[in-house]
Amino acid sequence: MTKKSARKHLSPRTQAIHGEALSKSWEFSHHLIPPMTASTTFRLGSLTRGAEGFSSFADDTKDKPIWIYDRLEEPTTKMLEDQLAVLEKGESAVTFGSGMGAISSTLMTLMKSGQRVVAHKTLYGCTYSLITNWLPRLGIEHSLIDVNNFKVLEKELSNPQTRVIYFESVSNPILEIADLAKITALVKAANKKRKADDRIYTVVDNTFATPWSLRPIEWGVDFVIQSLTKNISGFGTEMGGAVIAPKSFEGMLRVARKDFGAIIHPYSAWHIMVYGISTQAIRFEQQQATAMKVAQFLEKHPKVESVTYPGLKSHPQYKLARKYLISPENKFCPGTMISFNVKGNMKRCQKFVDDIAQNSYSITLAVSLGLTKTLIEVPGFMTHSAIPEDKRGESKIDPRAIRLSIGLENAKDIISDIEDALKRI
Ligand SMILES: Cc1ncc(COP(=O)(O)O)c(C=O)c1O
Repeated sequence: MTKKSARKHLSPRTQAIHGEALSKSWEFSHHLIPPMTASTTFRLGSLTRGAEGFSSFADDTKDKPIWIYDRLEEPTTKMLEDQLAVLEKGESAVTFGSGMGAISSTLMTLMKSGQRVVAHKTLYGCTYSLITNWLPRLGIEHSLIDVNNFKVLEKELSNPQTRVIYFESVSNPILEIADLAKITALVKAANKKRKADDRIYTVVDNTFATPWSLRPIEWGVDFVIQSLTKNISGFGTEMGGAVIAPKSFEGMLRVARKDFGAIIHPYSAWHIMVYGISTQAIRFEQQQATAMKVAQFLEKHPKVESVTYPGLKSHPQYKLARKYLISPENKFCPGTMISFNVKGNMKRCQKFVDDIAQNSYSITLAVSLGLTKTLIEVPGFMTHSAIPEDKRGESKIDPRAIRLSIGLENAKDIISDIEDALKRI
C-alpha cells in the first residue's frame, strides 16, 4: 500500500498533487481522491484490539494505526500530516484546529514552569498575547529580543532557564527576515555546552513564507509552525494549524493534542489536503507575481511614504530575502505580503483604508492572509491590537502601517483600486 508514497527525488510540486497517495492511513485504494472521513469513534472488534489501540497510541512505529477516537488520531488528518511533513522536509507533522492551537500546544509540550522562552519582538498579536499573558501564569517567563541581534541572542542562550527560541521566519506584519543559519548555529553552539535533556529548541512560525518559499528545517530549525488557515488552505474556508517536528516529539505532541483538545475537524483536513495543498504552489507563485507589481506601483506613487516587500531591492534585508526565500525549484520567492504607509497622519491612513473598504471591488478590508481574495488591514489596530499600545514601538508596529495580502485577482484591477483610493485622499 505504500508503493506510491511520496518519493524524495520528486519536485514538491508533484508531491503536493499526489502526496502519500496510497498511505497506510487509507484503506480505500480504488479512490483517486481519498474519501472524506467523519467518524468521531471507531469500531474495534475485540477488547484486545481496543486495548492495543490505547497502549500503542502515539507510537508511529506500529505498522498500521488502530483508529480509536477522532480526538486521538483519524485517517484524513493523518494523511494531511504526512503531506505537510514531506513539504516542510520534516520527520513528522501534527495538525491542530488552528495555528494558535499548534503554537500553544507546541510551547506547552516543550516547556515547563521555571523555563524561559526567548522570542522575537515582532510577532503575530495572539502569539504575543500567549507568550506575555498566558505562559507567565504557568511560571514560564519570556524575553523579547531582536533575534537578528546575535550579541543579545548569545546572552539569552547562555541563560540556563532558556529553553525555546521562538520567531517568525518572515515576521507579521513588518516582513523582517530571520537569519536562520546564524541563529541555528548559535543555538547549536549553546547546546554543545548543555546536557541533552536541557537543550534549547528553535520554533519557527513559517506561515508568511509557506514551504513553497522557505523550509526552515533545511537551515537547522527544530520545529516549524504553520497556520493552515492561510496560504496552505488558501480559499478562506478552513481553519487549521500544524507543527512539523522531529519524530522523537511526535508522540508527545499527539498526547498534548489529545489532552488539550485543539483538534482539526477531518472535514477541514480533507479540504486543506485535497484543494489547498495541491494548488498551493501555483496560487503562491501567481499571487507573488502580482505582489511584485503592486509593490513596484506603490513604491513609485507620490502619495506613498514607504513600502516593505521582500522582493524589492529597497527591503532592508534584501540580501537575506535572496538567501532564504527560495522555492524548491530554486526561484526567488519573496511572497505575497506587502506592508506600506501612505504619506500623512493616522487620519489620512484611515481615510484611505475606509475608502478601499467602501469603494474597492478587488480589495477587501478583512484580517487573515494568503487567500484567493486580496485583503487589506491595519495591524496596529486589528491583528496586532493585543500588543499593548506602549509596547508597539518596541515591536516595530507602526500604527499607520497598512498590510496587504495579495490574492488571485488581475494585478491591474488591484492597482487601479489602490490608485483610485489614493486619488481621493
Ligand atoms: C504568522 C501567524 N501565525 C499564526 C497565526 C494564527 O493562526 P490561526 O488564525 O490559524 O490560529 C496567524 C494568524 O493570523 C499568523 O498570521
